[in-house]
Amino acid sequence: MRFYITTPIYYPNSEPHIGTAYTTIACDVISRFYKQKNYDVFFLTGTDENSNKIIESANKVNKKPIEYVNEMAELFKNIWKNLDIEYTKFIRTTEDYHIKTAQFVFQKLYEQGYIYKGLYEGWYCIHCETFWTTSKVDDSKLCPNIECRRPLNYIKEENYFFKLSAFEDKLLKYYEDNPDFVYPDYRFNEVVSFVKSGLQDLSVSRKYNNWGIRVPFDQDYSIYVWIDALTNYISALGYPFELDLFDKYWEVSHHMVGKDIIRFHAVIWPAILMALNIKLPKKIIAHGWLMYDNQKISKSKGGDIFNLKEIALSNDKIKISALRYYLLREGSFGQDIPVSLERFKYIYTSELSNNIGNLFSRVLAIIEKKLNKYVFKESDFSYIQNSFINERLSNFDKELSNFNYSKAVLEILNLADYLNKIIENYKVWEIKDKNLNQIMYELVYSLVVLNKMLYPFMPFIANNILEQLNLPLESLKWDYTIPDSFNIKERKILFPKIENVLA
Ligand code: ME8
Ligand code: MG
Repeated sequence: MRFYITTPIYYPNSEPHIGTAYTTIACDVISRFYKQKNYDVFFLTGTDENSNKIIESANKVNKKPIEYVNEMAELFKNIWKNLDIEYTKFIRTTEDYHIKTAQFVFQKLYEQGYIYKGLYEGWYCIHCETFWTTSKVDDSKLCPNIECRRPLNYIKEENYFFKLSAFEDKLLKYYEDNPDFVYPDYRFNEVVSFVKSGLQDLSVSRKYNNWGIRVPFDQDYSIYVWIDALTNYISALGYPFELDLFDKYWEVSHHMVGKDIIRFHAVIWPAILMALNIKLPKKIIAHGWLMYDNQKISKSKGGDIFNLKEIALSNDKIKISALRYYLLREGSFGQDIPVSLERFKYIYTSELSNNIGNLFSRVLAIIEKKLNKYVFKESDFSYIQNSFINERLSNFDKELSNFNYSKAVLEILNLADYLNKIIENYKVWEIKDKNLNQIMYELVYSLVVLNKMLYPFMPFIANNILEQLNLPLESLKWDYTIPDSFNIKERKILFPKIENVLA
């Protein structure tokens, strides 16, 4: 079984922030989860480097564009590494193999008659890399995207167009036949009504200005950055020159994106793939925006109250783990998600420290002090209901398979609550006879299950727990057989008091 998951490739004209981290962590959680279930996973992320706005950003810091993107790509890799993002491949669109694929695609679309030359006259936003129809632009001549509102450029030039309009019916038919193509369904409905309202051909070139990928048959033009960017999902798999990875992973492809770029992924990209005669991705998953103070968090508008870069570069693993957990446990996946430091602290204390952390420390302390660090299975389960635990695990599996992160986390909390209650109800700290061993065995057994669920969200913490329980890495796998006895090791605090973590 295989699984292919991608993040958008981010524009490296700004540093990673809490918003780009959100998508990347969401993909990492899914990727780790499928690996636990023994899937062969390919997880792709990278940087979208051929945008015109890169030139401007490079100029500002007196660097050549290529020097600038080289440095930024390193920064992205570094930050993702510190956030425990375990990607399979990091693609940069200035790399040779990608350029060749983008040119191949453009050439093929041209040869098949899907690209033609015409006059483009209208507005363009460099920041959004978006062409706007005159009807969308008001007297201010600012970008219609309310998140942007930067001055537009009026362009009147010969350009190449992609016959997007020719795909209207085919797309609608595809949507109808594949009701799971876009998740969540309300985003899918938006996509369908957008296509129903009529598609216009899309300008897919810009005048070449020493940056970007050249149109292969016309050196005066560069390929519109979005066409180039979307092809990253197949160039990363070697398409069309070496098809091994492509053949292996393409049919299980999942594109995770923010709702801002859903049309590019659910309309334009499918049309291009149809024109190329390539199967469409299996699923487009669109999440909402992290919001601060009722505004979308972005590098330009600010609002990255967490100061992601600082947290990541400090490599404070507890804080990083807590942040991964916090971002994904919030909200309902797909909807916008308000975030704040106060809320982060609250979740840290109530869920991580007082609930999960406390549970581990209570159980391990008793075994350490009263059972000489050893427990074994003496009889059938008589304190903990195995069916309850299995139900948590299977619900967790179901929710995460459906990208319902916060609901999956509820199963974690539900199990932790249950185990804490067992400790209290049986007054475990007062038990002196031989029953203590059995109940503690049952608790540790349950902690192994709990740890499996913690792993995709907080791999650092889960590994820390493995060490304390003296278990192998395989114990994180879904099909691991839990042993009949445990020899636990040195106890360590999982989530120290907040003042020490969030100074
Ligand atoms: O659009 N909340 O790159 P980009 C949640 N290069 N997610 C957020 C966010 C927020 N506040 N802010 C950003 C591009 N994101 C193109 C993509 S793909 C072929 C090309 C995340 O740097 C979210 O995933 O503007 C969003 O879609 C993406 O960053 C946009 O990144
Ligand atoms: Mg953007």
